[in-house]
Amino acid sequence: MTDYGKIIGVHNECYDTKTFEFQWDAKAQPGQFAMIWVPGMEEIPMSLSKTGRIKSITVKAIGESTKRLHELTINDTLRLRGPYGNGYDLKKGRRYLIVGGGVGVASIIPAVKETGADTIIGARTDKDIIMDDLATKYSSNLWISTNDGSRGFHGNAVQLMKEKCAENQYDCVIACGPEVMLYYLYKACEELDLDCQLSLERHMKCGAGVCGCCVIDDQRVCKDGPVFTREQISKMKDFGTCKRDECGRLVKFR
Ligand SMILES: Cc1cc2nc3c(=O)[nH]c(=O)nc-3n(C[C@H](O)[C@H](O)[C@H](O)COP(=O)(O)OP(=O)(O)OC[C@H]3O[C@@H](n4cnc5c(N)ncnc54)[C@H](O)[C@@H]3O)c2cc1C
Ligand code: FES
Repeated sequence: MTDYGKIIGVHNECYDTKTFEFQWDAKAQPGQFAMIWVPGMEEIPMSLSKTGRIKSITVKAIGESTKRLHELTINDTLRLRGPYGNGYDLKKGRRYLIVGGGVGVASIIPAVKETGADTIIGARTDKDIIMDDLATKYSSNLWISTNDGSRGFHGNAVQLMKEKCAENQYDCVIACGPEVMLYYLYKACEELDLDCQLSLERHMKCGAGVCGCCVIDDQRVCKDGPVFTREQISKMKDFGTCKRDECGRLVKFR
């Protein structure tokens, strides 16, 4: 069933990323996503960067559909299906370290809001950092890494995560971002024997567990995920190495 969400706010996060707030009464958990379209574009998956009665998506313009979304303004209407996916498993009393890389920050912000946990935002440069205002507001501590050192820690989010895990005690790392980042984060969690919940991306068509185009090994990312535990990820041979494109062809990350 398609729902409709009237846009009530548009915010520029950085030069290529915008947040669209809209009214949608559906119940949603941190880490869930929706399938979104407007006339003139394909339906695509987007994480919910707000999960209350007012919801939002945070869109990086990289291709035809995301550029079409960037044309939208207040009072335009989004077509929505969902929310889909399992979301993060957030328990009171657990000490989380939450890591967002690139536009993956959109997915973790509701988890930061719910837990108040220590948070790392990783970006290529100062100009690519998004949602640090909300992360500052909701987290106990916010640390930023940039690859070129233009702000915060000079290096990547995984190097910073290792540093913070040496200084503090955590029970679980939660993360969303580019798969290369997630791959090295997973390796670090293995070395530290630390639980993790990583939100993965695969090409999605139905978003609801039917078409099979998002499978990674025997898991449907849209329905069984997008958030997977360390144990589940340890069984995925495609994780961090390859994914399928829109035609089902295997594309290598590394
Ligand atoms: C669960 C999930 C949550 C996501 N959350 C966000 C988010 O919060 N913000 C954001 O900016 N992006 C998010 N994405 C990625 C977003 O869906 C793609 O950037 C978008 O579909 C690109 O479409 P395009 O036509 O603009 O670009 P295209 O030029 O068509 O594609 C560019 C790249 O985007 C990816 N992509 C394209 N179509 C799809 C699709 N149907 N499913 C998955 N990936 C696709 C492919 O890697 C492709 O190479 C998410 C993806 C998934 C799977
Ligand atoms: S997108 Fe169709 S099964 Fe996941």
